[in-house]
Amino acid sequence: MNWPDHGGQPNTIKQLFNLSNETELIDFSANLNPLGPPRWLGERLADLLQSTAKYPDPNYGEAHRAIAFHERLNERQVLITNGGAEAIYLVAKHVEGKRALIVQPTFSEYERACRHYHIETEDIFLDEDNNFSFPLEQILNQLNNVHALFLCRPNNPTGTAVQEDSLRVVLDVALRTETIVVVDEAFADFAADPETPLTGWIARYPNLILLRSLTKMYTIPGVRIGYIIAGETVISSLRTYQIPWSVNALAASLAPLLLNDVAFAARTRAWLKDELLSMGHELQKLGFYQSATHVNFYVLKDRLKTGSTDMLYKFLLNEGILARHTHTFKGLDGRYLRLAVRSSAENRRLIDGLYKWRQQ
Ligand SMILES: Cc1ncc(COP(=O)(O)O)c(C=O)c1O
Repeated sequence: MNWPDHGGQPNTIKQLFNLSNETELIDFSANLNPLGPPRWLGERLADLLQSTAKYPDPNYGEAHRAIAFHERLNERQVLITNGGAEAIYLVAKHVEGKRALIVQPTFSEYERACRHYHIETEDIFLDEDNNFSFPLEQILNQLNNVHALFLCRPNNPTGTAVQEDSLRVVLDVALRTETIVVVDEAFADFAADPETPLTGWIARYPNLILLRSLTKMYTIPGVRIGYIIAGETVISSLRTYQIPWSVNALAASLAPLLLNDVAFAARTRAWLKDELLSMGHELQKLGFYQSATHVNFYVLKDRLKTGSTDMLYKFLLNEGILARHTHTFKGLDGRYLRLAVRSSAENRRLIDGLYKWRQQ
């Protein structure tokens, strides 16, 4: 089967499974904020449309000031990017032709970006048998051999997050081995624990690079806003690799407004915490394994019928529920489904679907 690499592609899945275009599917395969964008966004976008008749400021001064203010950093420690994706590719360019370690299963773009820049990669795997725990010792043993370590925290697709203590050990050793540690925090703003983002660590670790995305929290995959946080020397190198005007005028103007809406992100986190709790109870009652997620998605498998994940995927599809397959996540190889947390009513539909699966 020619599984697509990313979630959020209902039409491709309909074609793959010979479903008509009219089939209604609830999309649990994309991990965007189910509350949708902030209410003011549509109106502001309309106002900002006129800004597209001019080139954006090539230095993105206003956006950089807003990001720095939001993160309590200085402007030379941040770089706005065309989504989190551009951030990943800029960092890969920074270690072009060298060697990198990737903590799998994770977002596939780290490996693709490495391949693009002729970076030789090695994989190291979260411990599936131990709730996807962080393979600290194995990583420490490898740091000497690599120029960069890529990890995602909280991790896509498991939603799990490496503990601060372990990460500190990694960063201390990485300082000695001169390894850059890239932590993709695209989902950190969903985590209920306010300590999750590592912004404050930048001052101590010149080898730490943080990647952020506004895509997920604000449901704006079509706008493309991300940013990088790192020490001033790293940021000034990354800036030289960036294509001129790679961030469009709408994205640059929206970034300060979105970051300013802290109440929206806080509301999302509060809602998510409750929703995750009730989903967790239901899934456990029905006998499903759910990864120990901190964010708006998790991986799931049937504890009682192992080896049945593809059947479960099709069963849910027939129930109008589109899950994210995990065939393209190294180390998961289709044995789990990744599911987004959606609205309460939609989550109920999922639980009903899983209940029916259990009854057959
Ligand atoms: C972990 C992770 N990082 C980065 C991205 C890319 O985000 P953006 O859409 O802002 O480029 C994604 C998108 O799925 C992701 O899952």
